[in-house]
Amino acid sequence: MTAKTILIINGPNLNMLGTREPEIYGHQSLHDIENLCRDTAAGLGLDIDFRQSNHEGEIVEWIQRARDKHCAIGINGAAYTHTSLAIHDALKLCGVPVAEIHLSEPKQREEFRHFSYIEPTAQIHVSGKGASGYSEAIQKLAELL
Ligand code: DQA
Repeated sequence: MTAKTILIINGPNLNMLGTREPEIYGHQSLHDIENLCRDTAAGLGLDIDFRQSNHEGEIVEWIQRARDKHCAIGINGAAYTHTSLAIHDALKLCGVPVAEIHLSEPKQREEFRHFSYIEPTAQIHVSGKGASGYSEAIQKLAELL
């Protein structure tokens, strides 16, 4: 871990990418997305710490610790995007730039996906661009650093 490491957090069910509703989320696995993130960051002189969890509290703890270890956070909160005040509060105090990432465009889907607890805490928002959205978010974070 270096001072130039971006923490990429993936929330619940994103470990199932590739087989999970590919018509919505695409055919790429989370491992494919991790490789894409690493390649993008390497081209910018940055490192990536890529993680996934199905547990809200674990994600909160990762965000809390990021201020000491990471220069920025990219987060696809998945379903916790729409439910987690705890993740919202943690992101507000994290002290580093935040990018909100979604593979799909939640605001064009079911109404229960329209509200995001992450949105007001993030300086960058990328959605509806599939896996390439992760790459775009890393590039935009690099511009802020
Ligand atoms: C998602 C959108 C969320 O609504 C959903 O719960 C996910 C994935 C996306 O990347 O498009 O799990 O965050």
